[in-house]
Amino acid sequence: MNIGGKAYRTIWFENNSVKIIDQTKLPHQFIIKDLLTVKDSINAIKKMEIRGAPLIGVTAAYGLVLSIIEHKDQYFLKKSSEDLIASRPTAINLKWAVDRMMKKLLGVNSSEVLKIALEEAKMIAEEDVEFCKNIGLNGLKIIEEIYNKKKNTVNILTHCNAGWLATINWGTATSPIYHAHKKGIPVHVWVDETRPRNQGANLTSYELNEEGIANTIIADNTGGILMQRGNVDMCIVGTDRTLSTGDVCNKIGTYLKALAAHDNNVPFYVALPSSTIDWDIKNSKEIPIEERDSKELSHIEGMDENNKIKKILIYPKKSKILNLAFDVTPAKYVTGLITEKGICEASNQALKKMFK
Ligand code: MRU
Repeated sequence: MNIGGKAYRTIWFENNSVKIIDQTKLPHQFIIKDLLTVKDSINAIKKMEIRGAPLIGVTAAYGLVLSIIEHKDQYFLKKSSEDLIASRPTAINLKWAVDRMMKKLLGVNSSEVLKIALEEAKMIAEEDVEFCKNIGLNGLKIIEEIYNKKKNTVNILTHCNAGWLATINWGTATSPIYHAHKKGIPVHVWVDETRPRNQGANLTSYELNEEGIANTIIADNTGGILMQRGNVDMCIVGTDRTLSTGDVCNKIGTYLKALAAHDNNVPFYVALPSSTIDWDIKNSKEIPIEERDSKELSHIEGMDENNKIKKILIYPKKSKILNLAFDVTPAKYVTGLITEKGICEASNQALKKMFK
């Protein structure tokens, strides 16, 4: 998608290095960063220079390519794969991508291993682009249906950033929105700020602005009253891990939005590529929920009046802080799952029918 009128992807391979857009610098600075080693890839995931489930997966796949460029040694490759998987716990795409790469690479002789790794990493990235595009075309049907009834701007609420910056292109939750906009359907997006890291305000609003899509940033607790007032036609969110039961793990606060949507009869959709489905865990209590540094809550970063980026403390110094990064929305609150293959109910039966 576009930044400053120029088409970009979030990650690409060039001259033996992996290029990423450093998302910790957005929206104030647009910086392309080089990842040269597997350690660079691990740090980029840990520090959230890249984030969003599909993009984390592709960065890990390219991380293994970098590991092979460093050492054509199966022990180093295995260790790299373990370190990559350990870099962030919740998004299942990370393990999915590393496992897929390792299945191709283990036992391959050193003269071929780099070529095969690069081909597979590129294939994972291309597949994600295709899947996200199809998610958009499938989700577009829901937006079109609302528009045909309403004959007025469709108001969509989204949480966190499940936009193209969280994937390789198109996004998951935003892809139906981009497709609707391209088709001339008037859409307006309520963007949850998404404390503590503000992915909604810093990334979703930024990328929608760059594509010319009307949007309004709201504090995370505002969605409820907007739904009570009839100002939200539908919610679309992304997910970091959706269980085969249909339970959806996503950015902290998603569950509360789903509860408010349920209470107000607002359809609540989750957009996801099949790489985000966890077919193994059956009980959502077993999903590893990432707990992040308390400083993400107690400190806030922004631009001062001299255009300098500054970080300041906003909490009492002695306060205890808990920073859980994800929550789980039970399947019963999910109207439907928008996938690359079509829209299905959030249930084991429907998911199996669609993907198995
Ligand atoms: O902590 P983040 O920014 O990686 O969390 C991202 C989300 O929660 C997204 O909604 C999710 O990864 C879906 S991305 C298409």
